[in-house]
Amino acid sequence: MFKKETYIARREQLRKDVGHGIIILPGNHEASCNYPDNTYWFRQDSTFLYFFGLQREDLVGVLDCETGKDYIFANDYDIDDIIWTGPLPSVKELAASVGVENSGSLADLETFIHSNTHTFTHSHIHYLPPYRADITRQLSELLGIKYAAIPRYASMELIMACVKQRSIKSDEEVAEIEKAIATAYNMHVCAMKQAMPGRYEYELAAIMQGEAWKGNGPLSFPIIMTIHGETLHNHNHDHELVEGRMLVMDAGCETRMNYCSDITRSVPVGGKFNDRQRAIYQIVLDANMEAIRVTRPGITYQEVHTAASRILAQGYKDLGILRGNLDDIVANGAHSLFMPHGLGHMMGLDVHDMENYGQINVGYDDETRPSTQFGLASLRCGRRLQPGFVITDEPGCYFIPALIDKWHAEGKNKDFIDFAELEKWKDFGGIRIEDDILVTDSGCRVLGKPIPKTVAEIEAVMTA
Ligand code: GLY
Ligand code: MN
Ligand code: MN
Repeated sequence: MFKKETYIARREQLRKDVGHGIIILPGNHEASCNYPDNTYWFRQDSTFLYFFGLQREDLVGVLDCETGKDYIFANDYDIDDIIWTGPLPSVKELAASVGVENSGSLADLETFIHSNTHTFTHSHIHYLPPYRADITRQLSELLGIKYAAIPRYASMELIMACVKQRSIKSDEEVAEIEKAIATAYNMHVCAMKQAMPGRYEYELAAIMQGEAWKGNGPLSFPIIMTIHGETLHNHNHDHELVEGRMLVMDAGCETRMNYCSDITRSVPVGGKFNDRQRAIYQIVLDANMEAIRVTRPGITYQEVHTAASRILAQGYKDLGILRGNLDDIVANGAHSLFMPHGLGHMMGLDVHDMENYGQINVGYDDETRPSTQFGLASLRCGRRLQPGFVITDEPGCYFIPALIDKWHAEGKNKDFIDFAELEKWKDFGGIRIEDDILVTDSGCRVLGKPIPKTVAEIEAVMTA
């Protein structure tokens, strides 16, 4: 945990920004896997972590904007629990550890809410849109709102106040993220060294998972480790590694405090790039570096996405698979045949930070609206950048046979795409390169110890 003053200041700011009524922030419950007591590993809710820092299940935080008081509600463990868990702090002790002076049981929470509902209308009770059914039910029962209506009454004022604070990472948060990237360095470099013909994707995924736990935290999302990188989120790990394939490794971890990393490296199985691999890899790397070159406060991430897209499009023109005027290619989105996703997303306590608040509320605003163009429409964060934003820079190039065939059949962007030339590339697979970057006062900084990224660096580490 950070020191308690950090959480006190965050809650103070939240009460000020929301301004009225009461804010309910439920922490997560345990979630059963295949029978009640066999649970998935516990992951605390990120908003709860941000404002209260506590890792225990079944906690509910309440902020009263009218009185300025904060509360933690939960039931204390009794001896029947403690014989299984060992001694645990009381709810009162937990609350005090993060500067919360008021605590009570879940029955006290009901009394508190019901004693307030006669003075507060529903529009004065603020909660976030829940993403778990058990929390939806808990809010429904607590507030007397029908289960199906719970999302509708989520508070936009609370969402926007949370986005405002969590978008700007403090120095102590950046330090945590860099810890997660230090572990990701080990995950990626250890796996790279093993990416040899005859090994299996699952063996390398296991190496990565082990390195993540050596850093004392879980993965930040299921590992992508695949010689079929053209499937963007390929979670299958059954393939044997074979010479001539690129291996896409997209993986990150969480620290003990649940700050994330999200790194992608793509390497040639066997450790040496062939000519085709080098050509595509260099185009994607140039796009990744262009995004780093132009990222600074004041530019929108849509503009950064477009700057990276121009590099990709020029590369494909030089390769002979695109043709025509560069501005027209990019304006028409012809290049997005090879990158149907956005350049990046915010990252912090969630790997896709705050996505549970609604992507449009996090990545866009009144000024910057989402594009409807294929590819750019999938950009999760398009808005104007501010110092303190942590964002991923993850261009890719994918030859997706089904998508190429569809565009070909429809004649989509046929003036810009040489479909005959493209036939030669349909068996290539994919490449993605992803870094986590911090927007600074004057530009940006790639976070963490540099993970081998150039052709020369990757070949050096894989053939050492
Ligand atoms: N790891 C999924 C992503 O890069 O967004
Ligand atoms: Mn990723
Ligand atoms: Mn990412």
